[in-house]
Amino acid sequence: MHEIHFESIDSTSTYAKTYGNAFPSDQITCITADEQTAGHGRFNRPWASPKGVNIYASFYFRLPQNTKHLTSLAQVMTSSMAAVLTHLNPKIKWPNDIQLNGKKVCGVLCELTFQGEEVIAILGVGVNVNMEMSDLQKIDKPATSLKAVTGHTWDQAELLKKLQKQFENDLEKFKKEGFDPFHDFFERSLCYKGEEIRCFDGKKEWVGTYHSLNEDGGLNIRLPDQTIHTIYTASE
Ligand code: BTN
Repeated sequence: MHEIHFESIDSTSTYAKTYGNAFPSDQITCITADEQTAGHGRFNRPWASPKGVNIYASFYFRLPQNTKHLTSLAQVMTSSMAAVLTHLNPKIKWPNDIQLNGKKVCGVLCELTFQGEEVIAILGVGVNVNMEMSDLQKIDKPATSLKAVTGHTWDQAELLKKLQKQFENDLEKFKKEGFDPFHDFFERSLCYKGEEIRCFDGKKEWVGTYHSLNEDGGLNIRLPDQTIHTIYTASE
């Protein structure tokens, strides 16, 4: 894996978008930073990125356009992170948030650009590692950190290495078999099963109950008229 690190940057994902064309085309480039001054999440929400306490990483790589289940690439990264944290019993809030004790600890931002025969993927991962309560409370939604949950300080470099290794292996599987190898683990890890789900897919708000995880990683929800609708992106 090709690695680039900054002490401070606006956003590791913005950097990848701007300079990605110069990165090696045949491997993953991982851009990390100690802090981000304009970290952002899905739907352009701000992502709290204080200095030195968390992981802010963007993984840049290319895939063939005909890669199977491409719409669920973000779920693969979510699965990689959940696998690294298995011993803490992480829960996945579909499509790509990881929660501990009902609070968000990790988010994934997936940006795909179609270019010729290829897709350029940038997967931005934010993990609250050693973030203190005082900072977590400033976030507008319930958030936690690994330190807040376990009571001890984590080695961020070691955790990042584990994630990089896990994702490198998972991406190789995904290239060959799509979402299939991740489906069962992902579904087992999902939270809010059987509960009402209310989500906005960028165009419309869908309200229904959890039905199942589609084979390609989409979420099947049962609507009030009993029909099943599959969604591929969502925010509350
Ligand atoms: C979300 O849950 O909305 C996704 C959050 C993604 C945050 C990461 S931190 C590293 C990368 N750089 C950014 O500006 N965002 C992603």
